[in-house]
Amino acid sequence: MHFDDVIRTRRSVHQYADEDIGDDTLAELFESVRYAPSSFNLQPWEFLVVQGDDLDRLQSVAYGQEHVTDAAAAVVVLGTLDPSDHADRVTADLLEKGYLPDEEAADARLDTIDGLANADSETRRVWTVQSCTLAAMALMHAAWGRGIASCPMGGFDADALHETFDVPTDYEPVLIVTLGYPEDEAADVERPRKFRRPTEEFVHFGEFDPVAAPADASVASDD
Ligand SMILES: Cc1cc2nc3c(=O)[nH]c(=O)nc-3n(C[C@H](O)[C@H](O)[C@H](O)COP(=O)(O)O)c2cc1C
Repeated sequence: MHFDDVIRTRRSVHQYADEDIGDDTLAELFESVRYAPSSFNLQPWEFLVVQGDDLDRLQSVAYGQEHVTDAAAAVVVLGTLDPSDHADRVTADLLEKGYLPDEEAADARLDTIDGLANADSETRRVWTVQSCTLAAMALMHAAWGRGIASCPMGGFDADALHETFDVPTDYEPVLIVTLGYPEDEAADVERPRKFRRPTEEFVHFGEFDPVAAPADASVASDD
């Protein structure tokens, strides 16, 4: 599929076919995810793949959302809250490949990352969520490019997720992404595309001049 089509035809799908996603295919998806961008290239993400009966446990922390158990797999996207986790090898690689001019620049970079690692928890949360969200989007695009539908989910109880799946508290549960081949006539795929704001409303060239939403809620885009 052309990449623009992948972006434009992806839907949040809630009805999945009774068909497994093979291990090789799952591995391919994560091979693509590796190339997502991340702050300082620190790749703060971890992916917990939940399948089979374990989906029941995931559903219970996701407020019972039905598509969790309908999916072939669900991926819990977790972000480390410690920016220094992979800092040494990432920085050594930048130095070796000439992205950093010398040891001094490498040390300066490590100092900056160290400062971030000692920042308050909200700063570190935002830091990890930014990169992990892009990785989650890469996962959904890699999947849809292979005909595997997905649904990103923020509707879950993070504390319950930590407890149920033994996730240490220094990892932030960022999103759950359900994955599966869409059911033949999945309502989500057949229904009209949900409203999208027109580009001229949300793109601002040079000057930020946000437009208030129209008072008439019936005015929606036609695609
Ligand atoms: C951060 C985020 C959280 C979301 N949480 C949920 C969720 O908990 N359950 C769900 O069914 N859909 C969830 N969605 C999917 C949105 O409802 C969906 O993306 C939106 O309605 C647009 O539909 P589309 O993805 O089919 O274009 C979430 C999407 C995002 C980006």
